[in-house]
Amino acid sequence: MRVVSGIKPTGNLHLGNYLGAVKQWVRMQDEVAGQGGETMYFIADLHGLTEYIPPAEMTANTLEMTATMIAAGIDPAKSILWNQTRVPAHSELAWLLNNVARVGWLNRMTQFKDKAGKDREGASAGLYDYPVLMAADVLLYKATHVPVGEDQKQHLELARDIATKFNNDFEVDLFPLPEPMVSKDAPRIMSLRDATAKMSKSNPSEMARVNLVDSDDDIAAKFRKAKTDPEPLPDTFDKLADRAEAKNLVTIFAALADRTPQSVVEEFAGQGFGAFKPALADLAVSVLGPIREELTRLLDDRAAVSAELSRGAEKAAVLAAPTLRAAQQAMGLQI
Ligand code: TYM
Repeated sequence: MRVVSGIKPTGNLHLGNYLGAVKQWVRMQDEVAGQGGETMYFIADLHGLTEYIPPAEMTANTLEMTATMIAAGIDPAKSILWNQTRVPAHSELAWLLNNVARVGWLNRMTQFKDKAGKDREGASAGLYDYPVLMAADVLLYKATHVPVGEDQKQHLELARDIATKFNNDFEVDLFPLPEPMVSKDAPRIMSLRDATAKMSKSNPSEMARVNLVDSDDDIAAKFRKAKTDPEPLPDTFDKLADRAEAKNLVTIFAALADRTPQSVVEEFAGQGFGAFKPALADLAVSVLGPIREELTRLLDDRAAVSAELSRGAEKAAVLAAPTLRAAQQAMGLQI
């Protein structure tokens, strides 16, 4: 079992990334090691380039995201932690896979359609090709499992198609098919202002998202002002199917508390949001506060954080080299 996943260094880690992905990464680190497997997590700085970020900010974001991962519980002694740029094999394999992926497949990617919007002609080639680099990220390490939020599932299905076509076209059994793992309890965390949109770094309002660096007061204020409805909570989670905002807040509560959404509605059944929101705010502060404090401590020594990335990259490069070489050989490239 080899678990591989990544996160873009665009801005702060928010509750959506944390509950949808990073929390699973932390949990898997011990579980997978117990089964003799490996966990590998990286900062997808090359994917970060698909949105223009001023260079100085990019450098700072990469270090800050690394420190946030460590503060959130990723232990570089247990998991390999690095950034894509320090392992050039990601880009090299992506080019090889570009010749296997079909334009028709990329045209179906909903993230490209959403991000390019109406101006497709003006979108970068990098944004279009993004899922091929993502396939390279996981196939390079022969990942068996990839923990992600729901929004990345389509990209992983593409990675499986690319792996299958590569194995068939070049008559090899090189790439195992990576299995996407979407958290059952927090597949999608939605915006606190509009529960039809996912919580994201690009939400127009700061009130829409809780960042892991937010102060306790900001966290409490964001939950207090979160959009809800006037109804009390029902006695089963299923009854929230048509109440998107309420469902989102219960989902967040359950994921933060490591409980099922059903047990949370049972506890608050019959109560309104006047009672539920303060309990949620207290819970969020108790979980996120210590992460923020550890992050602040780690950022006092940025050189040490950068050194962790170098060490991680060295380990990742050793695992990447034989796969890249085998792919080149399968394609008849002279090395
Ligand atoms: P990114 O940086 O947008 O997000 C990192 C992880 O957080 C999940 N996520 C969410 N989950 C639930 N609710 C939300 N509101 C929410 N917002 C984000 C994402 O699904 C993701 O798992 N393309 C990837 C990074 C990447 C990658 C990879 C992932 C690059 N190469 C290879 C896995 C394997 C991305 O942009 O994630």
